[in-house]
Parts: sequence; structure tokens; C-alpha cells
Amino acid sequence: MTRVFINGYGNIGRRLASAISKDKEIQLVGIAKYSPDEKTQEAIRNQFDIFVPKEKIKEFMGKQYRVNGTIEEAVAQCDLVIDAAKEGGGYLNKVKLYDPLNKPAIFQGGEDRHGKYSVADMIHNSRVNYEKAGSRTYVIQGSCNVSGMGRIIQPMIENFGDDIIRYDVTLIRRWADLEDSKQVKDSIEWDANPHHQDDVKDFIPTANLYVDAYKVPSRMMHLHQMSVRFKKKAPNKESIVETFRKEFGIAILSSATGTAQVRKKAMELGFPHGDTNMVHIHQEVVRVEEDTVKIPYSDDQTGMVIPENYLLLQSMVHKRGRQEALAKADNLFQMNYKKNVLEEEFK
Ligand SMILES: NC(=O)c1ccc[n+]([C@@H]2O[C@H](COP(=O)([O-])OP(=O)(O)OC[C@H]3O[C@@H](n4cnc5c(N)ncnc54)[C@H](OP(=O)(O)O)[C@@H]3O)[C@@H](O)[C@H]2O)c1
Repeated sequence: MTRVFINGYGNIGRRLASAISKDKEIQLVGIAKYSPDEKTQEAIRNQFDIFVPKEKIKEFMGKQYRVNGTIEEAVAQCDLVIDAAKEGGGYLNKVKLYDPLNKPAIFQGGEDRHGKYSVADMIHNSRVNYEKAGSRTYVIQGSCNVSGMGRIIQPMIENFGDDIIRYDVTLIRRWADLEDSKQVKDSIEWDANPHHQDDVKDFIPTANLYVDAYKVPSRMMHLHQMSVRFKKKAPNKESIVETFRKEFGIAILSSATGTAQVRKKAMELGFPHGDTNMVHIHQEVVRVEEDTVKIPYSDDQTGMVIPENYLLLQSMVHKRGRQEALAKADNLFQMNYKKNVLEEEFK
């Protein structure tokens, strides 16, 4: 049994915990809580062991929350940590907790790949560099958008290679996740320095990619508008759509008219956490004009990275081949089932 500790129980951590706790090969050591709030009660209801900073034990106990030990104890007990700290929090955890025990760890996409606060020397994307992660102690799982872009760009490279000269992505991001309590501001905000471009180039260095990112007042997924420019006339729409037909974690939808419709359908269908765990190409609005293909796809921001973390774990800990790992992820997350259902619902 592989012992895994999830350090953080926010939007990503709680999803990772509920998925991973269902895998019979993995023993979930527990989850970390830093604030004694109602999410602690949720973790107790889910029967997860709860580890907190030593100095906060009294505070948790005072609120009648069960505590199973300190964060340090959980890190010592596990074979791998999945760090799900708030953006940028992984660096201190690495220095204080993982490095001293040489404990392998997966970090999330909000952490730095380069510079003073870098936590790892590679970003994982299961479509591109799954095998490479097998020999690493520390790896960053690309963010939802970075994972989505890799999932679209890699099949384009494999199918059309040198005929493509440039990718431009306009990334339209949600303001907050559905579970967040923060207010959604009535504004469209731009990002002077989006990290996605460099992050994707980390695992697809040949991609001539430019990303612009805008945050809009929505809580419902992200939308990417990817323009792919070819040297000459672009392939027809049918061959573009066919490129993605059999891809893991890509659904091809026709009749959906917006991101909320897809998210609400996932909730109505009872998908865990209301996640589809994938990207959805919106076939009706794919356009080909002369040398340019426009591929609009929505990206399930909260769900997208959960199977990706699981696949990364398969590479780092179990050293499984990619096909076998994909089959396991399909089994745990019912990816093909979800894809088929969504394609049928939005045909
Ligand atoms: N949300 C998304 O859609 C999304 C998608 C892809 C990637 N990511 C990335 O995933 C990471 C986590 O994002 P999130 O949305 O889950 O954030 P979040 O909902 O704000 O949760 C962050 C969690 O970090 C915990 N925490 C506080 N101090 C910590 C520490 N020192 N070490 C570990 N955990 C600590 C908090 O615990 P308490 O609540 O107990 O205080 C909280 O549960 C970020 O890198 C983000 O960029 C997020």
C-alpha cells in the first residue's frame, strides 16, 4: 500500500482526498487542516484522519474537532505528499517539511517552476511527459489551464507538426470557484504576466505559444479560445475535430451554449463535486478560415487537475506505464463514461 498525505484541504485538496481514498492500492494517511472551520467537519464526516500544525491542536480540540496528529507526523508517515496549499504556500512546506525527510511531493500549479521560490524542475502534463516524472522527487502538476492547453496542443503537434507556425490563446478565467466565499467583482481584469505561456513551454518547448488571460465575473469554468495558425491553408474542420475524438479527457460537445450549462449538467448528473474532470471542445464554434483554426474549449478548472495528480502519482510512485495508468484513472474517475454522457447530452 502506498501511503499518501494531502497537505491542504481547499478546493483541490478535498477533491484529491475523496478520489484517492477510493483507490484500494493507496492508504490515505489523512489531510491537513490549518483553520478550525466547517471544512474540518466535512473531513471528519468523510472519515479522513486530520493533521494540524502543533500550535493549533488546542484550537481544534476546543471546537470539538478530532485531531489525529501534527502535520510533521503525517509527513513522516507517508510515502508521498500531495501538497495542495494555497498558491505559493508549497515552497515553505518543501523547505520546512519535505526536504529534511527527502519526502517525494507533488505540488500544484500555483507554485513557481523558476526563480528563488521554485519547488521543482519539471511541470507534469500526462499527455506529454508522463514517463519523465517517474524519476523525480518533486514535480509540479500544471494548473488547470496549463493542463488543458497541453491536452489540446500535443495532439495538434502529433497530427499537423511543422505545418503549424503559431498558437494564440485568449484565456477567459472564472473569478472564483463555486465553493469560494469571496465576492465576484463586477469587472473584467487583465493579467500583465500570465504564467501559462511559460508553463506550457516547459513541457512543449517547441510550441510557439502566446497567451493572454482575462478574469471575468463568473464562477463557472474557464474558456480558452485557441487560434492555431498554419503555414498554408489550414485543414478542414472535420479533420480538426477528429484529431480529438479519442483523446483521454476531451469531450466534443455541440449544443452547449455556455460554461454554466456544462457545469450544471455535471451537477445534475451527480458527477462527484460537480466536476467533469476534462476539457470540452465546443464543436459548433470551431472555425477554419484560410490559414487559421479557432478552437474554443471550456476547461473544468477545479476538476481538471484531479485525474492529472492521480496519473502523476502513478508515474512517481508506482512507475506504471502510461496506458495502464490511464486505465486506472479511467476506472477511478469514470472519464470515458462522463465523456460519453456529456457528448450525448450536448449532441
Ligand atoms: N481552484 C482551482 O480551480 C485550481 C485549479 C488548478 C490548480 N489549482 C492550484 O491548487 C492549489 C490550491 O488551490 P485551491 O483552489 O485548492 O486553494 P484553496 O481553496 O484556497 O485552499 C488552500 C488550502 O491551503 C490550506 N493551507 C493553509 N496553509 C497551508 C500550508 N502551510 N500548507 C498546506 N496547506 C495550507 C488551507 O487550509 P485551511 O482552509 O485549513 O486554512 C486551504 O484549505 C493552488 O496552487 C492553485 O493554484 C487550483
